[in-house]
Amino acid sequence: MDKNQKLEYIWAAIKKAYPNRVLVFNDGSPDSAIMMIGEAPGVEEERQGKPFVGRAGRLLNATLELLGWQRSDFYISNIVKYRPRDESGGNLTPTPEEIEKFRPSIEKEIEAVGPKLVVVLGRIAMNGLGIEGNISDQRGKVVEKNNRRILIVYHPAAILRNINLEPYFREDLGKMSELLRQSD
Ligand code: URA
Repeated sequence: MDKNQKLEYIWAAIKKAYPNRVLVFNDGSPDSAIMMIGEAPGVEEERQGKPFVGRAGRLLNATLELLGWQRSDFYISNIVKYRPRDESGGNLTPTPEEIEKFRPSIEKEIEAVGPKLVVVLGRIAMNGLGIEGNISDQRGKVVEKNNRRILIVYHPAAILRNINLEPYFREDLGKMSELLRQSD
């Protein structure tokens, strides 16, 4: 099975498990060296069917461009593939149970893509890969887990809420080039 077939297989299992949800899978090429993982889609992502295309996504794209990258250089996905919502349709943070339910599939997804570097955006994605702790303590760290290098970065929505965090966001994403060089 090639990468695309493996991913199709994973999507099919998720679709089967959540038949009544609007699901958002990935964006970018599975041949990318870097895989970025966020939390869960928002309203705009549901509408367009792609991760990180709303306000947080635009901030992410702008920061990547500032650092000399393009969004198309990355494979982008989320831990939770639907938008957790309250009764009135507002966004909710995924619960620990939801994160736990999606953990096997994100592990398979990483396995299928086989990136040189995984970047987790925010605490939920970090926890989803089994890394505990507080994002403000962990940001900027590189963790080796299951033979993978994982760079921990703030979620772009955190920067939208508190612009003082922007230099850290940029600094941490700025580590990607060196980490890729080290893995060659
Ligand atoms: N936030 C996320 O974590 N993922 C998205 O796709 C959009 C916003």
